[in-house]
Amino acid sequence: MLEQIYMLVQYGGPDGELAASMRYLAQRYTMPYNTVAGVLTDIGTEELAHFEMICAIVYQLTRNLTPEEIKESGFDKYYVDHTLALWPQAAGGIPFNACEFQSKGDVITDLMEDMAAEQKARTTYDNILRLVKDPEVCDPIKFLRAREIVHFQRFGDTKLTRLSGFLPPEGIPSGGFLGIEQFGNVREIDV
Ligand SMILES: [Fe+2]
Repeated sequence: MLEQIYMLVQYGGPDGELAASMRYLAQRYTMPYNTVAGVLTDIGTEELAHFEMICAIVYQLTRNLTPEEIKESGFDKYYVDHTLALWPQAAGGIPFNACEFQSKGDVITDLMEDMAAEQKARTTYDNILRLVKDPEVCDPIKFLRAREIVHFQRFGDTKLTRLSGFLPPEGIPSGGFLGIEQFGNVREIDV
């Protein structure tokens, strides 16, 4: 019965789908490389679609609740403020806030923010899956969790390969990702 509250965290929470889409679609404008801006546009648009999925799940979980069920599930405080309308907030009741994401105007800083954001979203879905057992909720959550992993990999690949003009002469380090010192002249080099 608490699924309604848990789902709010991915609706308007700090690592939710609204924050994800706003993050990428804000960062894209100052991203200096078209290929990276394209990845941000692509993933940011997909996150908007995920936001719609979360909205639909919240709505389907709440639309037929009785007053007794609302009280039992702990949804009563939300109900007093919003009835059963959708409003972006975290599971703990904190309203959606643009301070939950960053748009810094630096290619490396923004991509690192994006990779961290995807892992935070994946962890949040892990937490939901530990608490929710209804397969009709868990199946789309598992899909969304898998997409966060794909996004993390795409941002990592973007950082590694789209910016390959910054690779040192010896090529990609055997450990995988480049160290920050290897991007030291990022604004002086065009790709
Ligand atoms: Fe994502």
